Amino acid sequence: MRHLIDPMDLTVEEIDQLLAVGDDIIQHPHKYAAICKGKKLATLFYEPSTRTRLSFESAMLELGGSVIGFSSADSSSAAKGESVADTIRVIGCFADIAAMRHPKEGAPMVAAMNSPIPVINAGDGGHQHPTQTLTDLMTIHRLKGRLDNMTVGLCGDLKFGRTVHSLILALSRYMGIRFVLISPDELKVPDYIKEEVLDKNHIPYTEVHSLDDAMPQLDLLYMTRIQRERFASEEEYQRLKDSYILTPKQLEKAKPDMYILHPLPRVNEIAVAVDSDPRAAYFTQVFCGKIIRMALIMKLLDLIPEPFNQELPAPERDTSAPVVHHLHCTNPRCITTIEQELPQSFRLADEATKTYRCIYCETLVQDK
Ligand code: NCD
Repeated sequence: MRHLIDPMDLTVEEIDQLLAVGDDIIQHPHKYAAICKGKKLATLFYEPSTRTRLSFESAMLELGGSVIGFSSADSSSAAKGESVADTIRVIGCFADIAAMRHPKEGAPMVAAMNSPIPVINAGDGGHQHPTQTLTDLMTIHRLKGRLDNMTVGLCGDLKFGRTVHSLILALSRYMGIRFVLISPDELKVPDYIKEEVLDKNHIPYTEVHSLDDAMPQLDLLYMTRIQRERFASEEEYQRLKDSYILTPKQLEKAKPDMYILHPLPRVNEIAVAVDSDPRAAYFTQVFCGKIIRMALIMKLLDLIPEPFNQELPAPERDTSAPVVHHLHCTNPRCITTIEQELPQSFRLADEATKTYRCIYCETLVQDK
């Protein structure tokens, strides 16, 4: 059974397949109207959402399926202390596929490890958000006609912004991608992504503070919200919240075909006056989100129709390093902080420095 926990759970060929299905859905929506008849999607949302939950739900409805679920932890048995593992076993008796959003990093992975049905990570803490990435890729593919050979500016909260983490992982597999990482020092991309994705794959990137200076070279600008709910201190959030506000004036220096993306919700990092710029693509993104989630649901349920249903090999994830249990994850947002029964679990990341990676949230911890 397949799950989607991070973007590397799909190969580039499988992503191409989803994009091709997405294009076909846009052209021939009626072909897909009954493909999921009799199937149920469960949306298990322990954290607020507008777009992601409703786009999953409308995706399933447009495929002729139905939807059950909850939209806050308070209205589920999590409020009574039920574990993620137990919840997914229960949901597996009711639904055919589940999308889970959770404030704790690694929760959807724990669900997948215990699930009788495919699990989709709909966002886990500040970690990953693979379906937003599929949305972003679909948008870029439709607007630019390619996913390679681009300078991509990622701007804002690159530390807690899970959509940024997933997008870096996904784009790092295409030729000729260069990243310009634009953030305050306090909100830089986490080390595990820089070391294990960018450095290991020799992807060129620069870390800068100034959006203005970066602007002229960019082919895409991906703006993000400062993630207030993930800050340990409100004071720090207040200090950093207006780090970047994109205005029409700044865009005068941008290429004429530099599209502006944003996963939304926007707080104030893009002035409303930018919306009328033809390069503003964030509402197109929302449309693509529903389409690509339709394609994903079909894929995980093995219901992709001809001629797109060719058998493609699943990615080979390297899980050969043994799991060790003697370390403790230092990430306050890791799922292990709330699930006492869950064993602390790490794999060796770097022999020389004795660095280990938490299997749930990927935080790097040193064995002293
Ligand atoms: C994002 C998320 O939840 O991570 N929103 C979304 O799913 N479109 C971005 C955000 O909340 O800032």
